[in-house]
Amino acid sequence: MQIQKLTLHHFRNHQQTCLLPDPHLNYLYGENASGKSSVLEAIHLLGFGKSFTHVKLNDLIHHGSREFVVNAEVFDEERSLLMNVGFSKSKSQKSKIQINRDSTQKLSDLVQLFPIQTLHPTSSNLILSQSKLRRQLIDWGVFHVEHQFQSVWRRYARVLEQRNRALKYRLTAKIIASWDQQLIPLALKLSRFRAEYVELLRERFNTTIEYVMPENSVELDFYRGWHPEFDLPEALLKQLPQDFKQGYSSVGAHRADLMFKMNGLSVKGVLSRGQVKLITFAIKLAQLQLLTESTASKPILLIDDLNSELDEHKRSLLFSLIEQMGLQTFVTNISIDDSIFDCFPSYKLFHVKQGGLE
Ligand SMILES: Nc1ncnc2c1ncn2[C@@H]1O[C@H](COP(=O)(O)OP(=O)(O)O)[C@@H](O)[C@H]1O
Ligand SMILES: [Mg+2]
Repeated sequence: MQIQKLTLHHFRNHQQTCLLPDPHLNYLYGENASGKSSVLEAIHLLGFGKSFTHVKLNDLIHHGSREFVVNAEVFDEERSLLMNVGFSKSKSQKSKIQINRDSTQKLSDLVQLFPIQTLHPTSSNLILSQSKLRRQLIDWGVFHVEHQFQSVWRRYARVLEQRNRALKYRLTAKIIASWDQQLIPLALKLSRFRAEYVELLRERFNTTIEYVMPENSVELDFYRGWHPEFDLPEALLKQLPQDFKQGYSSVGAHRADLMFKMNGLSVKGVLSRGQVKLITFAIKLAQLQLLTESTASKPILLIDDLNSELDEHKRSLLFSLIEQMGLQTFVTNISIDDSIFDCFPSYKLFHVKQGGLE
């Protein structure tokens, strides 16, 4: 995928901004609060339908305006097709998605069409926080290669909700067992999709992390969501007394996780901030690598606040990897860091000033 034109209308501090991006590197610089991240936020919205800073969509509407519109002309290399994608939200209505001016599209159509990866200062939470973000990372990857994944996941979530309700209201073990009968095959299917994906991801991750952090050995493992020594029916049965007490299901595919180890130890508590950031970059680049191998239309990479916590040497290693993948990349930074421009065959600089471009 390649954005050839991007327009922001009444979006955050941008009244009306239009960008004609470079196919390789787009470097947005400018003072704090000038509106750099807002441009990435707009692109992110087209790929995820939600904000990467987790604000409500209505808060993205320019103060005093009624509606924001983000629009992009996107070239799809896989199908040799120029598409128009749009996302708008007015205060009182639901968000609207348009693909080639057709407004009947669902969010999942947009997400499927427009793979985007974002790296921003809080992305490092991925490594250190609870499992949810890591599970979402796996699922984003699986979603883009396995078209059945989403429907299986939805069915699983519905059954899980019923099972949790039965636990909460202390219904009989027999009723729980009947939900388990439905839950187990779905969990195994999800788990198989994820395990296959993580296996492929691990190979790319190993190469990437060795390149950017040769001084340490970092391993990646998949946790299915229940103890490796038990099969799922056993694990569910074993946890049942505990689950009745807590009122929810403590094992299953909804507890899947990615485990990172450095030099044989769990990474939590042992990593510096720079190392956390490198591992975060490496895993996301590995995902992009995998995705570019499996589809002809390449994902787009967004990097917000480039300079935080990475030294120049590591930065240039990462950017040489990004260039090799040939991804269209958008970077924001306070100042111009010309050490990365050499990595790319072409680039464009955008000076962002108070919600506008120069
Ligand atoms: N809905 C909105 N309307 C107008 N201004 C906004 C809105 N939301 C955020 N802003 C302002 O937009 C400015 C730009 O934010 P941001 O894109 O994060 O800047 P940068 O990344 O350049 O530091 C900030 O000053 C912020 O307060
Ligand atoms: Mg910013």
